[in-house]
Amino acid sequence: MLRVGVITASDKGSRGEREDLSGALLKELVKDIDGEVVEYRVLPDEQHLLAQLMKEWADDLKLDLILTTGGTGFSLRDVTPEATKEIADRMVPGIAEVMRYESLKVTPKAMLSRAASALRKRTLIINMPGSPKAVKECWQAIAPALPHGIQILK
Ligand code: MTE
Repeated sequence: MLRVGVITASDKGSRGEREDLSGALLKELVKDIDGEVVEYRVLPDEQHLLAQLMKEWADDLKLDLILTTGGTGFSLRDVTPEATKEIADRMVPGIAEVMRYESLKVTPKAMLSRAASALRKRTLIINMPGSPKAVKECWQAIAPALPHGIQILK
């Protein structure tokens, strides 16, 4: 069983003004890779809060995988990739590249995603877009490779 954390970056979600459908969906999708969401949090789009939580989950809880949803676009409040890069030891560009590549077949807007993927110690961190539709499409593209990568980190 892989231990997974889900962080939803959403100002509205954190104020309780929007139901977090993408976070709920990820809880289901991770079952594809024998994962279980053991930590879940909705945070406002604040770089220091996002970075701090990713750091805690990687360093203290030693989660196998952290999935973020939202905050990867062009809005001035979108800072999830910056938070991820701030606490990254090593970048994993291929995962974000594949999400954009596959998503471009669905919509040209996929190129607007600034999502990053990174490693911090033994934890893999992946930024996903905010909408449930985009989360599903991106997940299908990357899921087949994740168990192997995570196994190498153990
Ligand atoms: N990727 C897929 N597969 N499907 C989509 O509909 N939407 C895009 C993109 N990636 C989309 C997608 C859009 S409209 C934006 S603005 C960016 O992701 C960033 O989304 P975010 O700001 O919600 O993180």
